[in-house]
Amino acid sequence: MQPFIADHPLIQHKLSILRRAGTSSKEFRELIQEITELLVYEATRDLPMKTITVETPVAATEAYTIAGRKLAFVPILRAGLGMVNGGLELVPSARVGHIGLYRDPKTLKPVEYYCKLPSDISERDVIVLDPMLATGGSAVDAINQIKKRRPRHIKFMCIIAAPEGLKALQEAHPDVHIYCAALDDHLNEHGYIVPGLGDAGDRIFGTK
Ligand code: PRP
Ligand code: URA
Repeated sequence: MQPFIADHPLIQHKLSILRRAGTSSKEFRELIQEITELLVYEATRDLPMKTITVETPVAATEAYTIAGRKLAFVPILRAGLGMVNGGLELVPSARVGHIGLYRDPKTLKPVEYYCKLPSDISERDVIVLDPMLATGGSAVDAINQIKKRRPRHIKFMCIIAAPEGLKALQEAHPDVHIYCAALDDHLNEHGYIVPGLGDAGDRIFGTK
């Protein structure tokens, strides 16, 4: 499945400010939320609808409503937390699960430390949130864990993907549609995306 790579001017403009080294944590968090909202708008394009009748002040009319499809957002801790409010702004009824993973700085392999998913996840469509898809190890591992609980469907959403991570995720989970704001050039020797935006978790939470 081809990934969705955003080319919308609003997303690209916001992404340029996000990448800038001098952008403050406050602005960084706001931009992550805004870009997530725009990506969630795209990722929910296929939600089924049903017709209802609505009384306007002038007349009765047929109108559309979302046909009861349940969603869950699952951020990968920590940096995925920065995307949750963007999702909930657009889909306030969604549930939120959490997967705790960090990347070992030497091996670049994911280390799991937490997993709490909604109890009714088997009835839900899941959108996994993580700003960075670098080697892809964290995303692949998180989706492995989520699949054990048999959700209806899974999408993966990030802000920036590296070609290496995209390939790894597509190979491991060909059924998972990927949404991102940009596909960057490559990974450096430390596993950081180039040009990227640096360490997303540190920039969101001001740790460094
Ligand atoms: C970052 C990022 C992803 C992961 C991507 O998290 O948020 O989860 O790295 O790298 P990968 O594709 O090579 O697995 P990090 O491990 O820095 O943890 P943090 O969010 O707790 O800072
Ligand atoms: N994690 C980040 O936060 N940034 C990268 O560039 C790669 C992994």
